[in-house]
Amino acid sequence: MKFFIDSCDLSHIKYWINCGIAKGITTNPIIIQKQAINTDIAAYFKEIICFAGKLPVSIQVTENEPDKIIKQAISYDKINENVVVKVPILNTEGDSLLPVIKRLSMEGCKINVTACMSALQAIMAADAGARYVSLLYARINDNGGDGIKHIKLVKQYLEQNNLNCELIIGSIREVNHLTEMLNVFPHIVTVSPEVLTKATFNSLTQKTVVEFYKAANE
Ligand code: E4P
Repeated sequence: MKFFIDSCDLSHIKYWINCGIAKGITTNPIIIQKQAINTDIAAYFKEIICFAGKLPVSIQVTENEPDKIIKQAISYDKINENVVVKVPILNTEGDSLLPVIKRLSMEGCKINVTACMSALQAIMAADAGARYVSLLYARINDNGGDGIKHIKLVKQYLEQNNLNCELIIGSIREVNHLTEMLNVFPHIVTVSPEVLTKATFNSLTQKTVVEFYKAANE
């Protein structure tokens, strides 16, 4: 299981890549909105993409119509080799974007199909040629679904069919969600800097370290 960082904050991205933890970067329009980026997204991302080197950086399309998505995706893909274009499995009308995903994959774009809420959506995206498929864990569970079940099914399908597609689990909102991933080992978990920081901390560890420090300095 690899960690990706779910952020567009360059200082956090640098920290977690430099620690050797983050092996890729994912973003979405909500993260970009929270970061209050008002400039051209592609221009903003150039610095992140450059710092990332060979590590994959997922940038999500903001268009909704198939033709416009294709045009935007191709423009993102041209920025650099490590760019992965994030395309939702459906558009806002609920129409399937599988034809768009297939077309872009055929043209050589690396696609991360996002907003998958079921194993079936994810495996169809993988069959359409996606390089990554993203299942959104907390969103599935919050709606009464069983995220773990869907993760196991997708992993099994990808392995059985030998597909060049990795399963990313997003919507990891708590440290517990991260711990739950250790039962199923998706290929990748994408995690916010806040959750990664919380996962590093343990009050019992701190208490113990204080005891060690005191003993060494008394
Ligand atoms: C990652 O690729 C997803 O876009 C992200 O983790 C979604 O998280 P959320 O459900 O907390 O918005």
